[in-house]
Amino acid sequence: MEEKRKSILSGIKPSGDLTLGSYLGAIKNWVKLADDYDCYYMMADLHAITVRQEASDLRRRTLAQLAQYIACGLDPKKNTVFIQSHVHQHAELCWVLDCYTMFGELSRMTQFKDKSSKNSENINAGLFTYPALMAADILLYQADLVPVGDDQKQHVELTRDIAVRFNGIYGNVFTLPEPFIPKVGARIMSLSVPENKMSKSEQDSGGCVCLMDSPDDIMRAFKRAVTDSETAVRYDPVNKKGVSNLMSIYSIAADKTFEQIENEFAGKGYGELKTAVGEAVVELLRPIREEASRLLAEKAYLQSVYREGAQKAAGTAQRTLRKVYKKVGFVER
Ligand code: TRP
Repeated sequence: MEEKRKSILSGIKPSGDLTLGSYLGAIKNWVKLADDYDCYYMMADLHAITVRQEASDLRRRTLAQLAQYIACGLDPKKNTVFIQSHVHQHAELCWVLDCYTMFGELSRMTQFKDKSSKNSENINAGLFTYPALMAADILLYQADLVPVGDDQKQHVELTRDIAVRFNGIYGNVFTLPEPFIPKVGARIMSLSVPENKMSKSEQDSGGCVCLMDSPDDIMRAFKRAVTDSETAVRYDPVNKKGVSNLMSIYSIAADKTFEQIENEFAGKGYGELKTAVGEAVVELLRPIREEASRLLAEKAYLQSVYREGAQKAAGTAQRTLRKVYKKVGFVER
């Protein structure tokens, strides 16, 4: 018998426009996985509302994210691509897992501590139980691997703990997932505050490059990138965060090693590095931006993709949910 292919699930919240960080750190790597794994990728809109969203923006960004996933090379024929809220099993399994997740565990999540300190006027229960929803996302598909940035590793570890606890009571219901973290690009940092992950927030719009940004905006963002008071282009992510981040981006965008980059810029200044990285990123994103704009105009096509995706996803998800409902003692419909 043919060996069962391993499964992968990942997602990105449509709470901001997709950034260069999400492309280099996530989506670009996902594209290659379809040959070897059963892959599920979602727009995590249920997760997005843990922070207040403008409804029309959320809707627009969710569809834009789908168009951009496809434009980045994620083929919806080879991958199951769906909108999280279209697969009701996520919310349902989340409730069950809420009852197998401890208050203390959730209190220790660094993302919760961080987000609640930044959002003190809206520390809602969803923000707190967010990791149980993420566990539901992963466990519904019996995912073996979960490609995430290192900021999400703790959530995947908690998912394992929840799965071990549940399996310990009910037998082997859930596959134990592993985080799958790329070596380079795992964390593309902000161009203006290189201590922070690149993300689209109002406080730091200058530090972020979005996939749909114009070439002029991209060049401007790189020219303004924060570096340090030395002059040497050298990879040192501890002492030279800004320069090392530019080198990471350049290394992926131009497919060069850090050593090659150090040689290329020996005796040259940061200005030249910034221009080279900016230009490489402009060329990297140009075809993605053009294809995503084209797809966004094809509403019927996008609709067929997310409908088919949700249907496929729900098939897998329902198999797991049914098992869970039976194990915990719900009467079968
Ligand atoms: N929490 C993730 C983030 O903020 C997004 C996400 C939601 C996710 N569900 C997931 C990632 C399941 C991997 C698997 O980036």
